[in-house]
Amino acid sequence: MTTTAVSPALLTDPGLHADGDPHAVWRWMRAHAPVHRHEAAAELPAFWSLTRHGDIRAVYRDAATFSSARGVLLRSGDDPGGGMTLALTDAPRHKQLRGLMADWFNTRAVRGLEGYIRAATRSVLGRAVELGRCDFADDVAGRLSLSVICHILGIPERDHEDLYRWTNEAFEAHTSLVSHPMLVEYFMELLYQRMEEPTDDLVSALVNGTVGGELLTEEEAVFNCENLIGATENGRLALIGGMQAFLEHPEQWQRLAADRSLMPGAIEEILRWTSSATHSMRVATRPVEIRGTRIEAGDRVVLWLPSANRDEDVFTDPYVFDITRSPNRHIALAAGEHFCIGSTLARAEMRVLFTELLDTVGRIEQSGPVRRLRSIEVGGPESLPVRLTAK
Ligand code: HEM
Repeated sequence: MTTTAVSPALLTDPGLHADGDPHAVWRWMRAHAPVHRHEAAAELPAFWSLTRHGDIRAVYRDAATFSSARGVLLRSGDDPGGGMTLALTDAPRHKQLRGLMADWFNTRAVRGLEGYIRAATRSVLGRAVELGRCDFADDVAGRLSLSVICHILGIPERDHEDLYRWTNEAFEAHTSLVSHPMLVEYFMELLYQRMEEPTDDLVSALVNGTVGGELLTEEEAVFNCENLIGATENGRLALIGGMQAFLEHPEQWQRLAADRSLMPGAIEEILRWTSSATHSMRVATRPVEIRGTRIEAGDRVVLWLPSANRDEDVFTDPYVFDITRSPNRHIALAAGEHFCIGSTLARAEMRVLFTELLDTVGRIEQSGPVRRLRSIEVGGPESLPVRLTAK
């Protein structure tokens, strides 16, 4: 671990997350300032930072006191999707909206998707092996996670490449997907098609299902499609971060290769270790005390997930990557009513990808430097050059 000057203010600097050691800051805050006030600075409003596992979990589990409706990411103003997308609604609307989408992400649905996930994995891996050298982030993980969510939404295979390009353009420009004109136009067109001729895909459910007795507006349906595409960025980062963890800890890869029954535990450890969602934000709906500190109604509270998942009060040797860790009470996928709806899907993608790698790829070597994302919202490698050699 590199040393970093420990100042909580650094946490809002994307450069710290790309090139520095945010864990040094979080470790200090857990010990010395677990409920820390940041005053408004640069373009960001004032907010509170929470860094301990127990405090963060408690906030997630009290959605009545800690609202998601003004945004769940620390930004200059309120989120334009507030009150509209699944992540950005409170009860009772949140539950109804979640009910509309849940059938596409539950265990049964994901089991039904396994064949598609395996075929998509074999296709990206086959191409990567043929290339020899590739960027695991782009050529494997990115393409895989995007094609799976496109399949769920009902986007025809021939359009996946366009969707991949547009979402990458939006992410690279650090803009919201909503502001990419091609993406908005594409979803509007798809919505109209499904209004006229519904099929059994998720877009059809979004345009024809009701919430509170009313159809979603076109804007709400488009925002939710984009939110689902955007949310898979986390799935992609878990795949890349998992690969990086195995490259840095080859003995853990060997253990998994020797005993496949370790796969479920390995997946949980990758989720804990990578904690790709760097923070969630909530807004207090009433005055409340956390560890004796008073938070006022309207205050923003930022939950730093990678910190919770290295909390030494909860995890033995938290800075050790150990695929046999047990128990492993990570909260990488949040907790409470906003618990990640894509959790089963994300786990299935990890299981299939790492299984296929073990089955079909003989050697995996890193072939260039890793570049990490410059973001305070999601963390992990945005580029991981590797050389894959077939068995
Ligand atoms: C390992 C990968 C993933 C991680 C670490 C992750 C993490 C999270 C976290 C922390 C939240 C809570 C956000 C908040 O309320 O502030 C969340 C919610 C959500 N996630 Fe994931 N996620 C992952 C994969 C996925 C995938 C593959 C999808 C695909 C659809 C997805 C879709 C969503 C959605 C729609 C929500 C909002 C749920 C709600 O508010 O009810 N996630 N995720």
